[in-house]
Amino acid sequence: MNESNVIEKIECYVKELFEDDVTGHDYFHMRRVARQARELAEQEGADSFFAEAAGWLHDIGDAKLFDDPTHAQKVMNDYLKELNVPAERIADIEAAIEDVSFSKGKVPDSLEGRIVQDADRLDAIGAIGIARTFAFGGAKGQLIYDEQQGRTSIQHFYDKLLTLKDKMNTESARLVAVERHAFMEAYLKQFYREWYTE
Ligand code: ADP
Ligand code: NI
Repeated sequence: MNESNVIEKIECYVKELFEDDVTGHDYFHMRRVARQARELAEQEGADSFFAEAAGWLHDIGDAKLFDDPTHAQKVMNDYLKELNVPAERIADIEAAIEDVSFSKGKVPDSLEGRIVQDADRLDAIGAIGIARTFAFGGAKGQLIYDEQQGRTSIQHFYDKLLTLKDKMNTESARLVAVERHAFMEAYLKQFYREWYTE
């Protein structure tokens, strides 16, 4: 197996799968998570091929994004086999991405899985995280903000985004998160200033 060839093939496969997503889970989300995971793996002394591959593939089989998650996982497994990725590495990748999702509240067993979880969470905060939140909210027909009710994109900052800084698994990710967190706090301050027009 040639690792950089496999990554290239995975990239094309993921591009096809997520090209049309408008909920903040598009191909570019996968690319940012893959690159961030590779960088964190280098900083943390982890297996960077494993982290990058799992980063690219981490949203495959997510029940929010696939009508038939089990089928999507099986197609991914077949594809990795076709690329001659050894069976035990496929199993490692599958185990890592199984536990990445925020909503499941789990921490992956492998360092590489924990790194992908950090990379996914870093993409949920900061300037990109803010953009993805309003894109998701718009796609789901949710209001930007409403003082009277909580099903809004601004509410999502308090429900999830502002809690992520303290949930990073690695120190390298925590350092990135601190800066992105501060940016979101500044953003919210400005948001309310404009909302309640000075
Ligand atoms: P995960 O895949 O880690 O379980 P989600 O898919 O729930 O996380 O969230 C990914 C991103 O989608 C969030 O960080 C946010 O940008 C957006 N998102 C999810 N739920 C909401 C929501 N209720 N309102 C606005 N944005 C949301
Ligand atoms: Ni994701």
